[in-house]
Amino acid sequence: MRFLAAFQNLAYIAAALLFILALAGLARQKTAVRGNILGACGMGIALVATIAASGGAAANLPLFLGAVVIALVIGAAVGVWRARSVAMTQMPELVAMLHSFVGAAAVLVGWNSYIMQPGGALPDAAENAFHLGEVGLAVLIGAVTLTGSIVAFLKLSGKMSGKPLVLPGRNWINLGALVLCALLIWQLITTDGFVMGVAFLVLITVISLLLGVHLVAAIGGGDMPVVVSMLNSYSGWAAAMAGFTLGNDLLIITGALVGSSGAYLSYVMCQGMNRSFASVILGGFGDGATAQVGEAKDYGTHTETTPEQVADLLRESNRVVIAPGYGMATAQAQFPVADLARKLTDAGAEVVFAIHPVAGRMPGHMNVLLAEAKVPYRMVFEMDEVNDDFADVDTVLVIGANDTVNPAAETEPDSPIAGMPVLRVWEAENVVVFKRSMGNAGYSGVDNPLFYADNTLMLLGDAKESVEAILGAL
Ligand code: TAP
Repeated sequence: MRFLAAFQNLAYIAAALLFILALAGLARQKTAVRGNILGACGMGIALVATIAASGGAAANLPLFLGAVVIALVIGAAVGVWRARSVAMTQMPELVAMLHSFVGAAAVLVGWNSYIMQPGGALPDAAENAFHLGEVGLAVLIGAVTLTGSIVAFLKLSGKMSGKPLVLPGRNWINLGALVLCALLIWQLITTDGFVMGVAFLVLITVISLLLGVHLVAAIGGGDMPVVVSMLNSYSGWAAAMAGFTLGNDLLIITGALVGSSGAYLSYVMCQGMNRSFASVILGGFGDGATAQVGEAKDYGTHTETTPEQVADLLRESNRVVIAPGYGMATAQAQFPVADLARKLTDAGAEVVFAIHPVAGRMPGHMNVLLAEAKVPYRMVFEMDEVNDDFADVDTVLVIGANDTVNPAAETEPDSPIAGMPVLRVWEAENVVVFKRSMGNAGYSGVDNPLFYADNTLMLLGDAKESVEAILGAL
């Protein structure tokens, strides 16, 4: 047993280090694959160590191993099936669904922990209070994560309306539910009676489940990616709480890593969109509607072009920047776009991709698409790395991007996207914008003066078909 405990501790330290290295690796595209492998190795080690240690303490080893194998086979089969079948654009909803499992696990761990050690079970009063506090928090955070993630999944997959549910006094309802839960957790801590304790825990569970539904239902479908990242953070804290109740150090470390990285990612996304975190949580924006926001402005007329003219322009361009956006994802244009970049590079042009931090609909959306199309990492640059160089660029191809290249963010203080950092593509000599029609706005619903600028040509049509036509003409 002592050997098993020592093995478990060592394995947990190794797994924790691998998780930290995994996060560090995932921060850069070049090292992301290695980071993913390190994370998977860490999880493998953690599983083996936990199963070995729990198996050593199990009263009925064959039954224990049978249950573990069945759980592993079902979990792995579902995981492999979903990971292989999910479309890239469905990734946020898959992540939301996975978070709901973490929430459910935390609720079950909390309940199990209470049943095994109810109020007064531990001899030391402080230890007892701490344990019951952990149980209450694990159930609270877990239940909010569970139902919040289910609502996020339903909204993202279109099974529920993306419109924010605006109940009168909804922020007070949320605050009231939180205060009530805090009081009930206090009651749970101070009650020794098992039946009363169960009653308090039932109430905490029900209120938290409803709070999760209400919290996320009040947020517009368009803000769901930030919400998914926020729920990612919650699921980390729920796991950390479950780690405290189970006395499992690795779960505490892993939960804290997920909780803090999820919170930081939400912050970075909000910064990229120039939104405050509070305005996302309090809802009312990004309801998926593409209606114009604010007063319609007259920016003049736009100039249309053809694939043949763009091919001619590209033949004469020495420096080309490609700025992809959400439209490249919906058109699945990354493959012909990658072919175009190769063709231009082979012809002697310098071609780079400029990636805005919130281009698309999820963090790293464009990077994933470009990696899928085998675009070399050395051609892919973050916004800050290229934003000062546009004046030296001959032609920028804006492939299905809109808000992320909108000059109004810098020039119109009254614009809903004022202050949002954007790619300054308009400083280039020529800009070609790929979009389907002039009628539709971007995600934020505001018009884009770039489309009417003297140096901008509009290539209207599906991005994939347009790029293929340019390739044909070249
Ligand atoms: P958007 O502003 O959403 O614009 C997308 C553009 O693609 C539109 O101009 C659209 O015009 C065009 N498009 C759509 N389908 C197309 C197709 N098949 N072929 C050609 N064009 C097509 O895109 P963006 O610049 O990437 O900006 C992202 C927005 O999403 C930002 O406002 C950001 O704040 C928000 N957001 C991002 C995230 C993350 S984490 N990335 C999360 C939440 C929200 P047509 O319809 O006329 O074709």
